[in-house]
Amino acid sequence: MSDQRLEDRVAIVTGGGRGLGKATSLRFAREGAVVVVADLDKEPADGVVQEIRSNGGRASAVAMDVTKRDDVENVVSSTVSEHRRLDVMVTFAGVALFGPAMECTDEMWQRHLDVNLTGTFLCAQIAARQMIQQKSGRIITVSSIMGQRSGDRRMAYGTTKGAVIALTKHMSGEIAPHGVTINSIAPGPVMTKMWLEANTDVEASESTYLRGIPMGRFGQPEDVANAAFFLASDDCSWITGHVLNVDGGFIATGVRDGIF
Ligand SMILES: NC(=O)c1ccc[n+]([C@@H]2O[C@H](COP(=O)([O-])OP(=O)(O)OC[C@H]3O[C@@H](n4cnc5c(N)ncnc54)[C@H](O)[C@@H]3O)[C@@H](O)[C@H]2O)c1
Repeated sequence: MSDQRLEDRVAIVTGGGRGLGKATSLRFAREGAVVVVADLDKEPADGVVQEIRSNGGRASAVAMDVTKRDDVENVVSSTVSEHRRLDVMVTFAGVALFGPAMECTDEMWQRHLDVNLTGTFLCAQIAARQMIQQKSGRIITVSSIMGQRSGDRRMAYGTTKGAVIALTKHMSGEIAPHGVTINSIAPGPVMTKMWLEANTDVEASESTYLRGIPMGRFGQPEDVANAAFFLASDDCSWITGHVLNVDGGFIATGVRDGIF
């Protein structure tokens, strides 16, 4: 028996060119999946594919804008025509443009809605239509701790991430009878390009977060990839509509005076 626990599964990872999506693409490929690394930016996606292939894995890169229905439909249909099926869709593509709520422009607001929310809707719906025909499949959305608790300068971002959680729960009931699950990963802070660009005062944000994370460290991309792997694996066949916080305990805790 193979010890690759996603052997021959076909997975699309949006935003797979860097950060958390890259780590997940690498992990899925190590577990035997055929990975379609889909990103707005094709060059880094090509780099991820090269890395996967040089480790003996199977992957292809594709340029895709998650805000465009035609793009998402093309990627799903070309994946299915090449590999005959789609087993996993993971939606890492996202943007984070932080700023005070009173200064949030219509453009900033709309960009978050387009990429984080409409992008997730399109990927989840189009993948689910295929998976319903197959009578199996896993959709993994990517929300955030900021979709559940508030943060200064994160109104537009956090609102879309809260909506991704709602979308995940609302879709889960309708697709469950067809053998298709949808769950959401809600990461805490991980120092990716996104995090470093959105948090302009990195030192201040880092120490603020560390005070709120009982495990005393930031996440690594691999922490999130591990959760994505679990949600895609056979061990997760009866879990749907769930939000998996991958956050070192941030969401679970409130007052922490350190007296124990
Ligand atoms: N890093 C964190 O601390 C953190 C915490 C919570 C949630 N998240 C979420 O995890 C996801 C990945 O975050 P990351 O830190 O790896 O970010 P990142 O910026 O490093 O990577 C995001 C990727 O998405 C791609 N992308 C952006 N817009 C796209 C579009 N329209 N179509 C297709 N691809 C697009 C980018 O090109 C990039 O490769 C995001 O949804 C983010 O909100 C991240």
